[in-house]
Amino acid sequence: MTRARVEDGELSPYRQMAIFTGNSHRGLAEQVARHLEMHLGEVEVFEFPNEEVFVRYLDNIRERDVFIIQPIVSPVNTRLMELFVMIDAAKRASAGRITAVIPYYAYGRSDKKDQPRVPVTARLVANFIEVAGADRVLTMDMHAGQIQGFFNIPLDELTAFPLIAEHFRSLHLAAPTVVAPDVGRAKLARDLAGRIDADIAIVDKRRVGNSSTAEALTLIGEVGGRDCLIVDDEILTGGTVASAVQLLRARGARSVRVACVHPVMAPKAFQVLDMPEIDEVVYTDTLPVVHGSFKNVPVTVLSVASLIGDAMHRIHTGGSVGALFR
Ligand code: R5P
Repeated sequence: MTRARVEDGELSPYRQMAIFTGNSHRGLAEQVARHLEMHLGEVEVFEFPNEEVFVRYLDNIRERDVFIIQPIVSPVNTRLMELFVMIDAAKRASAGRITAVIPYYAYGRSDKKDQPRVPVTARLVANFIEVAGADRVLTMDMHAGQIQGFFNIPLDELTAFPLIAEHFRSLHLAAPTVVAPDVGRAKLARDLAGRIDADIAIVDKRRVGNSSTAEALTLIGEVGGRDCLIVDDEILTGGTVASAVQLLRARGARSVRVACVHPVMAPKAFQVLDMPEIDEVVYTDTLPVVHGSFKNVPVTVLSVASLIGDAMHRIHTGGSVGALFR
């Protein structure tokens, strides 16, 4: 594995980079560190018997450029608290700069007041991260781009869709059609279709109340005899994707593949999506999949570790993060 290289900005005002992780996804953090030819820093992150989170850095981090890798995964509220406390402890240990690396930003779906008397929790979490003392955020494919604006500190948002596009391109499908499983993903589907020279179709989905039940109602676009690629930012219960799959098959799709960046995957998702109508499920390793596995559906996991590592190296050295996608 070669060290990430940048064309510009080889100077960093911070003496040394240091990478730490809490208890969310050590495997990913280790891969990122390996990609950068570094070791993870030593830190204790644990809960007391009363569930209070405690953190202690065992390495000196004074004036270091500290990166804390912590996707917000199950148990979500504990992992969030770990992130806040790790940031606070790093600040009090005189870190030079603290970047919260959050490959999966939970609570992203609560990004607007779309009914009376509800919170905007995505904004609340952003406030907590800032108040804890983070100087920057590095994240990936948030539920909605405007969540970037909830932060008053610099935020870099990476995307895994070029990786997903590359995977689909490598399959050399005869008649690919990228399908948005709801209108909110139409732009995403169009971008991906552009990358792999495919057509697009859009499913009109309706959620039943605030429950996780999703209904695919209508389809815009042609899918008969086509190789359909459903793309979404995340899969939680699998309901959105399952109803889209059924609709596509009913309209004569030849094959159906499903891809998402964040496999949040509640246990139920493995029953809901273990269906013969699905030819492949593709997701990345922004989060660990711990609540089950598929018995019948082939799964492809694409790693985002080198992408995150390259972005961290560019942040450290003042290189362009955007250039990673050009
Ligand atoms: C919704 O807008 C999101 O993009 C996903 O479609 C949704 O979060 C998936 O949830 P579920 O798998 O529970 O249907």
